[in-house]
Amino acid sequence: MPSHALPQGEAPFLPGEGQNPTYLAGRQGAVAEFKNRLEASPRPPLNAMVLGPSGVGKTVLLNRFESEARSAGWAVVRAELGPEENSTRGLGQYLAPKFDTVRYDNSARIRTVARFKALLRWIHWDPGYGIGAFSLGDPEASRTEIELGDAIHDATKACVSNGRSGLLVILDEGHEVWDDDENQSYPLTTLLRAVSGVQRSLSPVALVVAGFPSLARNLAAAQSYAARMFSMEADLSGQLLDTDVRDGLLFPLSKVDCGVDDEVLDALLDEIEGYPFFIQIWGEALWQTAQRLGVQTIDGVVLDEARQSAHETCERFRRRRLSGLPDDFQLYLLDLAHYRYPFHRRQLEADAAAMSRRPILEQLRDSGMLLPDVPGQLRFAIPDFFEFLDREASR
Ligand SMILES: Nc1ncnc2c1ncn2[C@@H]1O[C@H](COP(=O)(O)OP(=O)(O)O)[C@@H](O)[C@H]1O
Ligand SMILES: [Mg+2]
Repeated sequence: MPSHALPQGEAPFLPGEGQNPTYLAGRQGAVAEFKNRLEASPRPPLNAMVLGPSGVGKTVLLNRFESEARSAGWAVVRAELGPEENSTRGLGQYLAPKFDTVRYDNSARIRTVARFKALLRWIHWDPGYGIGAFSLGDPEASRTEIELGDAIHDATKACVSNGRSGLLVILDEGHEVWDDDENQSYPLTTLLRAVSGVQRSLSPVALVVAGFPSLARNLAAAQSYAARMFSMEADLSGQLLDTDVRDGLLFPLSKVDCGVDDEVLDALLDEIEGYPFFIQIWGEALWQTAQRLGVQTIDGVVLDEARQSAHETCERFRRRRLSGLPDDFQLYLLDLAHYRYPFHRRQLEADAAAMSRRPILEQLRDSGMLLPDVPGQLRFAIPDFFEFLDREASR
């Protein structure tokens, strides 16, 4: 819980991708686990994955991990992966320079004696980057693995010599990169081998990767080379608990001396359905309305006034999600408006196969847009998305 007041004039709610909320609801467990494991590392090393569909707060949780690590004296390399990085060469060329920058920033910054002592400590446990235990049989992958492994190793060494606790590597949009046997492309395995090669020498380098639920499968497939590297998994796919949504609304409002009536809170829980992005959308609409009406308590009147604007913002959010998809995905989703909801998983799969749309259904599940809810069922991650499709289909 933040104990400080918000700076004068600062908004209590901040809807927007990657925008840090003033109160991060329901993630205390994940943050505590991260801090503990980081402190214990490098023995065992910390490798964590953060999973979930869009809008559940993967990026803002990474922001929090980053600031916790920096406070604990770690240096951080952070990057967002994209389609360009989904090849061994592409990934190496994108990431290696980032490590070189950190190494450069941390060279020769501290006094010679302290530096000498730190280096002695390093020599004690530094056998160098440990490659060569096995080979991928692909010269490109081996070259990139060495290049990346060396870059990570040298950057970590520079950080430690400079008095840092270690080097944390944070990768967002990790689902963009995967191994592809058919095309003999192994970017993920190359990355994991480079990191675990450095970790094997007990160098304090830690890795956090965030992405859609499909990331877990991609990592598991690649991990057959890197033997169960990921000891921490934060799956943000499910809805937040009511108590967490309540805190997510009440704490930011209390910082601006604003209260909320109990019946209003209950109505808000129904609207938000545990979806983190909607805490920010509803919070902002309510706070702006309260300000406009000049009141310090959000009651039924404020709620009624704010409802239309909040609904419109949520609807725009859903429409952006739909229109961001390829045309055949959009058509498929609009067809789904004719089904009974929550979906019956087997029926959806059978129908998708009959219409050659199985790959689309699979990708919707991979991205977490459709989630397994109760066993045998599928539901949309975004609240009221089914009703939205119904409205769109009958337009
Ligand atoms: N735990 C949370 N509590 C309150 N608001 C949150 C939380 N997680 C995310 N948000 C809000 O939701 C929005 C989307 O978060 P973001 O990290 O961009 O999601 P993702 O990376 O999973 O798509 C942001 O406005 C953020 O402030
Ligand atoms: Mg994100």
